[in-house]
Amino acid sequence: MTTSSSERGVSLGMPHLPPPAYPDDVRARLETDAREIIARYPDSRSALLPLLHLVQAQEGHVTRTGMQFCADTLGLTTAEVTAVATFYSMYRRRPSGDYQVGVCTNTLCAVMGGDAIFEELQEHLGIGNGETTDDGKVTLEHIECNAACDFAPVVMVNWEFFDNQDPRSAKRLVDDLRAGRPVSPTRGAPLCTFKETARILAGFPDERDGAVEATGSAGPPSLAGLKLAKGETAPARVVHPRGEAPRETPPHDPSPAEHLSSHDAPQDTSASDPTHPAGPAAEEGE
Ligand code: FES
Repeated sequence: MTTSSSERGVSLGMPHLPPPAYPDDVRARLETDAREIIARYPDSRSALLPLLHLVQAQEGHVTRTGMQFCADTLGLTTAEVTAVATFYSMYRRRPSGDYQVGVCTNTLCAVMGGDAIFEELQEHLGIGNGETTDDGKVTLEHIECNAACDFAPVVMVNWEFFDNQDPRSAKRLVDDLRAGRPVSPTRGAPLCTFKETARILAGFPDERDGAVEATGSAGPPSLAGLKLAKGETAPARVVHPRGEAPRETPPHDPSPAEHLSSHDAPQDTSASDPTHPAGPAAEEGE
């Protein structure tokens, strides 16, 4: 097993060199922004997450210089800042592309085609997970479920949704991003670069023309359960005996009392199951 020079330095008791400082003008600008962020919180250390986004907006990833700035500004140790910066996957620890293309490969997206999209994008771009194209435009990543399973398979670019993708549409998307052609997320806010996204996440509004106008809303798959609970769904198809034509159920007009949420709907519980009575199990011999 080999050791890196930094590991050898630690084992020999050599002190870590401090990170390079920001240029004066950059530091002054960051300090102004940091004061605005910190003023939003009763306790300054609560501002660490947006401050990490702020330094990420400066350099495209969270550097040692950025972490030192956060520690100095908030009165924290660099160990405390590092612990947070390395815990959350939204903070990058190394330089990467303008567009973080995340392919959801959690269970539902994977079986709906997410795995195929990821494999084709790897081949199409010639990079692996966490790697960046030579032009510095696209970083490809596996991402975890982003609670958009009803639009699976989902691809996210800088955390904006591109729903119901397939390998062909995903390849067109990355080609457009690399060529600088405009692309629009399926819903939500307009797309911007990773650094611009980081600044918005630090709490500074997107000031591009029209950018504050988020487009779209929850789509039909997201609303289906709500409509079902309200009795607003279209007549359900009825399972019919073999050989008979399918029938439609008559439209149902529920009374107000029947407007149940999914939490209120009748369920099989111990109260409706006499063989499994409710309450703590009786001790033997009681
Ligand atoms: S599994 Fe992909 S968004 Fe939930």
